[in-house]
Amino acid sequence: MTSIRPMVAGNWKMNGTTAALREPRLLAGMLRDVKLKCDVMICPPATLIRRAKSVMKGSKIKLGGQDCHAAVSGAHTGDISADMLKDAGATSVIVGHSERRTNHKETDAQVAAKAQAAHKAGLTAIICIGETLDERKGGKTLEVLTGQIKGSIPAGSTASNTVVAYEPVWAIGTGLTPTTKEVEEAHAHIRAELAKVMGEEGAGTRILYGGSVKPSNAAELMGVANVNGALVGGASLKAVDFIGIIKAYL
Ligand code: PGA
Repeated sequence: MTSIRPMVAGNWKMNGTTAALREPRLLAGMLRDVKLKCDVMICPPATLIRRAKSVMKGSKIKLGGQDCHAAVSGAHTGDISADMLKDAGATSVIVGHSERRTNHKETDAQVAAKAQAAHKAGLTAIICIGETLDERKGGKTLEVLTGQIKGSIPAGSTASNTVVAYEPVWAIGTGLTPTTKEVEEAHAHIRAELAKVMGEEGAGTRILYGGSVKPSNAAELMGVANVNGALVGGASLKAVDFIGIIKAYL
């Protein structure tokens, strides 16, 4: 079996101004003498990436963006390019988060174009997929995941430039989580589908679970087969909570 280095990534969403930099500073301190068995990443608002990098100077914690435009530059008011995120100090970028797919009507094709832009800039694309509650209730979960994988993962994706995050939409920010059996089924399906679109690279690609991950459920969720880490929203905002999740891998 391929050994996959897990990743625990925190998605701050639209939260945090200068005062919030105290949290990455604290986290860097907590992890200073720890031999990490996983990659740890924070995806703060783009305005904080450069400063977060400087407050964590010397730390192993990586930084990521939360979205990027598919184009390199141009007339796209309010958008940010993958190159700009890289320049600010990011090594990854989340694309296709369900909040982008819902609030900004992003399609699989747009998500794939963003992931491709991330790859071109030398960033790892963290590509999010996941079913809605209606889709789960309708027995369509695996079918939806297949469609999103086929549509959102661009050609040229490899185990090193791509991470897939399975986030059931109904579990995000709700405190609800799928059962470990449901997580196992979804992740096994994703692993099999990745082989179809990525060939051999699919076997080594990290598949993160996301949606209401907390210190209290992290060890159980991270222990499920084919779960190679977590994408964490609310519980990544405070270093004391986030470390409680990272501990699943210490
Ligand atoms: P949550 O968010 O951990 O707050 O549920 C997860 C996410 O949206 O990535």
